[in-house]
Amino acid sequence: MINYFESAKIKFEQLKQKKDLIVLGIETSCDETSVSVVKNGRELLSNIIATQIEIHNQFGGVVPEVASRNHILMIDKVFKKALETAKISLGDIDAVAVTYGAGLVGALLVGVNFAKSLAYALNVPCVAVSHVEGHIFANFLTHKNLKPPFICLMVSGGHTAILKMKNYTEYKLLGSTADDAAGEAFDKVARVLGLPYPGGLYIDNLAKSGKANIEFTKNKAFKDGLDFSFSGIKTAVINYINNKKMKNEPIIKEDVCASFQKYVVEDLSDKAMKACKFEAIKKLVVAGGVGANSQLQCNLKELCKQNDISLFVPDLKLCTDNAGMIASNGYYKILAGENLANLNLTAKPTVSLK
Ligand code: KG4
Ligand code: ZN
Repeated sequence: MINYFESAKIKFEQLKQKKDLIVLGIETSCDETSVSVVKNGRELLSNIIATQIEIHNQFGGVVPEVASRNHILMIDKVFKKALETAKISLGDIDAVAVTYGAGLVGALLVGVNFAKSLAYALNVPCVAVSHVEGHIFANFLTHKNLKPPFICLMVSGGHTAILKMKNYTEYKLLGSTADDAAGEAFDKVARVLGLPYPGGLYIDNLAKSGKANIEFTKNKAFKDGLDFSFSGIKTAVINYINNKKMKNEPIIKEDVCASFQKYVVEDLSDKAMKACKFEAIKKLVVAGGVGANSQLQCNLKELCKQNDISLFVPDLKLCTDNAGMIASNGYYKILAGENLANLNLTAKPTVSLK
């Protein structure tokens, strides 16, 4: 009798020829349980997201064990709702795509085990997707005609990088962060300011009524290349706040947020522009949660206009974690014949950008 993986290999190959492909995506890398149904990599038939933000908020950040337990409680309900919303039945699923890393291992394992069980039960291929790569694919769901090559500014909670996307599965890393990711810096600064988790959106909102009049550091790190460093600015802001507290001086949170955000946004935008120029590519794609930042979007819009570059940003709800982007990535992996997973697929805390 032919075993599951042998049959999955044959089906994986056959899927390339199929006219319409329905991929079910699963995402549980952090504090969002999400299941989505995507047709042909571009059409979002459903994208159900159960967020745990309120649960973790009381702890000031994600508690891994609590995250895993809540994924277990939610995944079945989210899965059923995703099928219902997409108006499909189990037999319509051609393949299952799942985030296997990077993320919290316990949280990832819930999604990975659910995906493997489902793929086995339905006798369909299971595709392993990297979460960071997945973020880029939120753009293919938003912009139906977007095609590689393009430059991607990847700004998530865990990664900050600039990539040259050569095609749907091959990319070149042009720059990355030496320490903190941009989102991590936003969240840590927000925490010291006493703002809820995750802090990026709160900083974004407070900055709107603040003045960028505090100079935290004189020089930007890695000013000349395409690499980043955000630990310096993060520490400078935290020291500034602690100093003020020690001296019992008032802290104007709005100004702190505006000054910190201006530094980060300008650094990200300048380097994204530089990458487009170095590579002579006139298409810039933004990916990851910090991509939702209003000042970053505004700055990039202006700079892209000046430099005749087309700018692509995902819909706001697709900037942060969702399974739609995972299903879309899964679709393109199927077409390229990559990342077919066996039943020994496991969760990985880190997945490096190539
Ligand atoms: O991409 P994502 O889901 O994280 C990872 O995959 O690691 O994005 C979450 C990050 C958090 O750090 C959050 O604070 C940040 O995105 N974020 C923002 C905004 N909305 C979310 N940062 C700045 N401005 C925003 N409006
Ligand atoms: Zn993410």
